[in-house]
Amino acid sequence: MLTRLRCGRLLSFAFFASALFAAPAGNGFAGNQVCATCHPEISETFFRNPHFKSVASRKEPPDKTGCEGCHGPGAEHVESGGVKPIARRFSHLNAAAVQGACLECHAKDVPRANIRASEHTRADVVCTNCHSIHHSTTPKFLLARRQTELCYSCHQGVRGQFEEPSHHRVNEGAMNCSDCHNPHGSFAATWRMGAESDMLKPAFDTEQPCLRCHIDKRGPFVFEHASVRVEGCTACHFSHGSTNTRLLRRPVVFTLCLSCHNGAGTFGRENSGVIATSNSHNLLDPRYQRCTMCHVRIHGSNSDPLFLR
Ligand code: HEC
Ligand code: HEC
Ligand code: HEC
Ligand code: HEC
Ligand code: HEC
Ligand code: HEC
Ligand code: HEC
Ligand code: HEC
Ligand code: HEC
Ligand code: HEC
Repeated sequence: MLTRLRCGRLLSFAFFASALFAAPAGNGFAGNQVCATCHPEISETFFRNPHFKSVASRKEPPDKTGCEGCHGPGAEHVESGGVKPIARRFSHLNAAAVQGACLECHAKDVPRANIRASEHTRADVVCTNCHSIHHSTTPKFLLARRQTELCYSCHQGVRGQFEEPSHHRVNEGAMNCSDCHNPHGSFAATWRMGAESDMLKPAFDTEQPCLRCHIDKRGPFVFEHASVRVEGCTACHFSHGSTNTRLLRRPVVFTLCLSCHNGAGTFGRENSGVIATSNSHNLLDPRYQRCTMCHVRIHGSNSDPLFLR
């Protein structure tokens, strides 16, 4: 009784599964099921692939379903016993053709709106350099390798930056490159005129990526420190890592401030640029070198125009 029940279940499962795999054939399409006979390893795990959705839904036309959705019509390949190559062999495609194949379905995805203009595309780094459809090592996003290792495989120098004394904890696994970058490209920065995109992923659609996490620096403040808004966080901070505390661009805080507040040329007291430090500030006095000891709200203040509180 029990065995019969089990058998029945197995049978109905097998029937269900075969119905799923049996995509409508014709028009040079062979359907998914037949591929499994000669490519068992790939086919057996394919139900876990997000691209199995097209098979499961049974609503897509053959040219958008399963294996042949990417590899193109396979009837000739099948009939010839694999001698005639499949319509689309990724191993024989150049970068542009690979990208074109993926974008047949993924062109409308918002995160990839800038893919064709991205620095990666321009350097012939395309989908399959980062994603592996059949041999992915990450459960999410079908990445060819764990994300940081993937990026470091080409951007070796960046690993060292994240090992400097002050750094964002990317190498420790607390953060990902994609917290700040969109590897598919992005619009040019809106927070700094004429800036390169650096493929940064804006926070709140148009703002500096840093603000997504450091929300307390977002303001708006009654008294803004112009440089925070206009030049952005990276005017004073490195973003990956730094040998200086707090990811600062200069080892000592006052040299950082004086790079702008130096009173040079008309960039002085004529109200035509950055204000020089006050006459009361004797920079030979070590007390005055610790600018942020007094100007504590350096990112902007709601109560004091000089950021003293
Ligand atoms: C009768 C056996 C058979 C069937 C059925 C079959 N293939 Fe193949 N396929 C082969 C053989 C043989 C090769 C060549 C193997 C090699 O060179 O490694 C191959 C190679 C491939 C390749 C690699 C091409 C390359 O060079 O990058 C792809 C992709 C492929 N098949 C897809 C499919 C798809 C999709 C189906 C179902 C529509 C399918 N195959 C059905 C036998 C078959
Ligand atoms: C989302 C697109 C996509 C789908 C769907 C897809 N493939 Fe592939 N396939 C690729 C890409 C891309 C490659 C090239 C390998 C690479 O660069 O990662 C590939 C490579 C292959 C190869 C060459 C050997 C290998 O391991 O790389 C075979 C065989 C193959 N696919 C068979 C299949 C079969 C069978 C199915 C359906 C069960 C299928 N593919 C579904 C994109 C796809
Ligand atoms: C330089 C490496 C790289 C390239 C090139 C690349 N991707 Fe990605 N892709 C990633 C990473 C990393 C993620 C994970 C993003 C995250 O963690 O938010 C991802 C995520 C995705 C996702 C799922 C999440 C989302 O954003 O919708 C899709 C779909 C995707 N990529 C498709 C593509 C396609 C299609 C191409 C080619 C046109 C491509 N990718 C090119 C690295 C890349
Ligand atoms: C026939 C249409 C089609 C083609 C061609 C196609 N995809 Fe997809 N892809 C899909 C669908 C549908 C999904 C599932 C989206 C969802 O989960 O809602 C998907 C999901 C993905 C994901 C997201 C995985 C995740 O975990 O969220 C990645 C990455 C991806 N595709 C990469 C690629 C790459 C790389 C290629 C080219 C080799 C490609 N796709 C070609 C239809 C396609
Ligand atoms: C296959 C190699 C490769 C992989 C993998 C790769 N990149 Fe790139 N990346 C490049 C190349 C080549 C360029 C363009 C030339 C340059 O500026 O170095 C580039 C450019 C960039 C840029 C823009 C640099 C600029 O000057 O504007 C950023 C940001 C970037 N990559 C981030 C990433 C991230 C994040 C990842 C991982 C998700 C990644 N890359 C994975 C090769 C790669
Ligand atoms: C905390 C946010 C953040 C994280 C995390 C991050 N980046 Fe960046 N990255 C930036 C910013 C901002 C820039 C723009 C350059 C600048 O002004 O510092 C940049 C610039 C770059 C550049 C081009 C500029 C150059 O010459 O160095 C590359 C390449 C790059 N990042 C790769 C990566 C890789 C790879 C990872 C992950 C290992 C990563 N980034 C993680 C924020 C980040
Ligand atoms: C995904 C969230 C996230 C993003 C985006 C982010 N940060 Fe951070 N940041 C953190 C966390 C978490 C810390 C806490 C310290 C740590 O991880 O060691 C931190 C620490 C810092 C510190 C203090 C470092 C120290 O030594 O005390 C500075 C400065 C900083 N971030 C600046 C930036 C800048 C500039 C950007 C944009 C380029 C940025 N952050 C983007 C999460 C983020
Ligand atoms: C005008 C230079 C300047 C700009 C622009 C700037 N910072 Fe800072 N930031 C500093 C200085 C100086 C310190 C160190 C303060 C101290 O040690 O007393 C600091 C410290 C920090 C810290 C660590 C201490 C804390 O207050 O949490 C974080 C996080 C931080 N900044 C994030 C940001 C972000 C995000 C932006 C962009 C919105 C930004 N900074 C723009 C000068 C700047
Ligand atoms: C990237 C250039 C830049 C850097 C670096 C910078 N500032 Fe500023 N700062 C400005 C600009 C621009 C203004 C606004 C001037 C104006 O409103 O005319 C300003 C305004 C100020 C003001 C208000 C002055 C007033 O009368 O409104 C103080 C105080 C100040 N900064 C202190 C500092 C300190 C302390 C540092 C170092 C931690 C620093 N700044 C670093 C560009 C900079
Ligand atoms: C001991 C506390 C203290 C330190 C340290 C300090 N300041 Fe000030 N700062 C003040 C006070 C109080 C004022 C307003 C009164 C004045 O003008 O003296 C001021 C005013 C300013 C102004 C506005 C000047 C004007 O004319 O509107 C700037 C710019 C400034 N400081 C920059 C700096 C810089 C850069 C440093 C580091 C080199 C620094 N401060 C260090 C207390 C300090």
